[in-house]
Amino acid sequence: MSTPILRTTRLTLSAPTAADAPAITDACQDPEIPRWTPLPSPYTLQHAVEFVDEAASRSSADSGYEWAIRTAPQHAAVSLVGMISLTRRGAGAAEIGFWMRGDQRGNGYLTEAAHAVIDHAFEPSGLGLDRLEWNAAVGNVASARAARALGFRFEGVRRGAFVTTGGGRTDGWSAGRLFTDSPTPAVWDVLG
Ligand SMILES: CC(C)(COP(=O)(O)OP(=O)(O)OC[C@H]1O[C@@H](n2cnc3c(N)ncnc32)[C@H](O)[C@@H]1OP(=O)(O)O)[C@@H](O)C(=O)NCCC(=O)NCCS
Repeated sequence: MSTPILRTTRLTLSAPTAADAPAITDACQDPEIPRWTPLPSPYTLQHAVEFVDEAASRSSADSGYEWAIRTAPQHAAVSLVGMISLTRRGAGAAEIGFWMRGDQRGNGYLTEAAHAVIDHAFEPSGLGLDRLEWNAAVGNVASARAARALGFRFEGVRRGAFVTTGGGRTDGWSAGRLFTDSPTPAVWDVLG
């Protein structure tokens, strides 16, 4: 299945292409990305080229989808501002993942993009999923606040369940959102 183009007020989400490899490489020089994700560090152009190829293979196999988050020119000086993904986790479920360029954070692009991806995930005409999962290293407050804002319910701490490049294997925060859940943000005790 090809990765569909998703549009929001400020953003266009589409499959990453070979032409995006330099922008992906540039974004992934930010130490916050390997600090909180398993992405390689140092991150080279070759890593980005391989990532684009693998994303196309996963999409063809219907095992997962990667979207480059792109701004319209009037909204930012750069066009590729982040990446967001869905990875299938058994029948009817998938895990959401994301990163944003360091200089493009905190302006709501991630939550705007993720709403479109979640709609696509749950729509019967999209992927028709029943459940979405979110996982992060304990302490990744920025990611957790984004997941809470997106209607995910906190489900617990899993011991040694998450791996980051910077910290190795670490305890993980987990959350989920069901198709039947209200999208209204819930209380997350770990965020206070
Ligand atoms: C996680 C990440 C994608 C969030 O991107 P963003 O552009 O800040 O997201 P948004 O602007 O849509 O904000 C989402 C929420 O995070 C909060 N937030 C953003 N940066 C934060 C920070 N450094 N500390 C605490 N909260 C933060 C925002 O206030 C907002 O929460 P709110 O709705 O409760 O106010 C970004 O910080 C990032 O790329 N981090 C490095 C990679 C990473 O951790 N990926 C996720 C791995 S699980």
